[in-house]
Amino acid sequence: MVKKQQMVAGTWGIRCSFQSLAALLVTILVAGVIYLTGESGSLIEVPLLTLKHADDSMSHCNFFSGKWVFDNHSYPLYKEKQCTFMSDQLACEKFGRKDLSYQQWRWQPHHCDLPRFNATALLEKLRDKRLVFVGDSLNRGQWVSMVCLVESSVPPTLKSMHTSGSLSTFKAIEYNASIEFYWAPLLVDSNSDDPLNHRLPDRIVRVQAIEKHARHWTDADILVFDSYLWWRRPKMKVLWGSYESPEGIYKEVKMPRVYQMALKTWSDWLEIHINSSKTQLFFVSMSPTHKRGKEWGKASDQNCYNETEPIWKEGYWGSGSDHKMMRIVGETIDELKIRGVKVQLINITQLSQYRKEGHPSIYRKQWEPLTEEQLSKPVSYADCIHWCLPGVPDTWNELLYAYIFRY
Ligand SMILES: *[C@@H]1O[C@H](CO)[C@@H](O)[C@H](O)[C@H]1NC(C)=O
Ligand SMILES: *[C@@H]1O[C@H](CO)[C@@H](O)[C@H](O)[C@H]1NC(C)=O
Ligand SMILES: *[C@@H]1O[C@H](CO)[C@@H](O)[C@H](O)[C@H]1NC(C)=O
Ligand SMILES: *[C@@H]1O[C@H](CO)[C@@H](O)[C@H](O)[C@H]1NC(C)=O
Ligand SMILES: *[C@@H]1O[C@H](CO)[C@@H](O)[C@H](O)[C@H]1NC(C)=O
Ligand SMILES: *[C@@H]1O[C@H](CO)[C@@H](O)[C@H](O)[C@H]1NC(C)=O
Repeated sequence: MVKKQQMVAGTWGIRCSFQSLAALLVTILVAGVIYLTGESGSLIEVPLLTLKHADDSMSHCNFFSGKWVFDNHSYPLYKEKQCTFMSDQLACEKFGRKDLSYQQWRWQPHHCDLPRFNATALLEKLRDKRLVFVGDSLNRGQWVSMVCLVESSVPPTLKSMHTSGSLSTFKAIEYNASIEFYWAPLLVDSNSDDPLNHRLPDRIVRVQAIEKHARHWTDADILVFDSYLWWRRPKMKVLWGSYESPEGIYKEVKMPRVYQMALKTWSDWLEIHINSSKTQLFFVSMSPTHKRGKEWGKASDQNCYNETEPIWKEGYWGSGSDHKMMRIVGETIDELKIRGVKVQLINITQLSQYRKEGHPSIYRKQWEPLTEEQLSKPVSYADCIHWCLPGVPDTWNELLYAYIFRY
């Protein structure tokens, strides 16, 4: 299993640009350099010029445009049962799911290949460092996936997991490497910040305050943010001032304006506190939901329940993903770039849109016992938001991995 994960990290850039490599070979042949025919396209003999060329074309490859390919040979990248830190909310097989092909799809970009995930290489990269995921339960799922991807390479006595308040830390002791998750579903301060009790009827967000959270990850070496689903309501109650202070001002602010305000606070914080030559920054775009079967041709009372195949329509986009919010994220990142702070968007929205069968559906731990009525109608309690592991978030991490090494 471990071995399967490991392939030469260094060759992927070259494989990626096979087409341009071929073009270059033709050029060289025309120029009369005969020795490069036959088998000699092998990587070792590629001249320096070609390598450079390969790097160039790599940086132009769009990893996010591609298709899902069934690959039960290499996938899943780890076994659900073997991951020590698997979450019961994501362990679909454990909770009775029988169709397991959702574990076996590989994301294939149209114009290049993704590098193979090499846990040892990543741990070496993370030696004496902190990789911190900050955000909501989708980001937590990605963190669990990342821990599962690397932990099989670490012997039992050389790893630990520790949770303190909003921060959960996985540590590979030998490497002094940590992979952490910090709960901040709205990134900025809100009354949903308690890591356990956050489902409150009346959501209040202090849209200009982030310091309370940010001090926990100021010195991280790699930061991976997300924030989307918790903003999905027509408007939000915003507080200027503190919860306790009688002078606090409350105002309802519409979406997506309030989202924009929060991301502004986030980006100002980054600009002031982040040392760009030390810290790599990522933002994971919105994770799509599959709550309306009608959008992919099922009856209107259906959702992701009982789905076993991806959607094959190229460019499929469901109503669970908001273009306006995506645009705000894009603009915020562009503006940060002008201000000298580089945040790489991991644009997982389109590729995850196709995976209507990747959600836990009814196959996860239920926190409260189900009623007779629910049991008779599984659609009513199917989780079409989160993702089974192994599954879609492993791909998000393969993309993150590619960018961590491309840096
Ligand atoms: C994975 O990475 C490690 C460390 O860089 C390297 O020694 C090893 O050869 C790699 N494994 C494969 C299969 O490429
Ligand atoms: C992979 O899938 C193919 C086609 O569905 C099947 O014939 C084969 O037995 C599977 N291999 C493994 C290792 O599961
Ligand atoms: C271990 O890693 C942390 C960062 O996570 C770093 O601050 C600390 O100096 C490292 N310890 C050693 C002994 O290198
Ligand atoms: C930023 O980080 C780099 C690399 O770690 C370090 O050399 C530099 O001193 C840091 N700059 C500041 C202003 O802290
Ligand atoms: C689940 O899907 C299968 C095949 O698409 C169908 O035959 C079956 O009736 C569905 N079951 C339920 C409970 O909807
Ligand atoms: C992310 O990808 C989608 C679909 O490919 C695209 O519509 C969207 O504009 C991209 N987002 C950003 C911020 O670039």
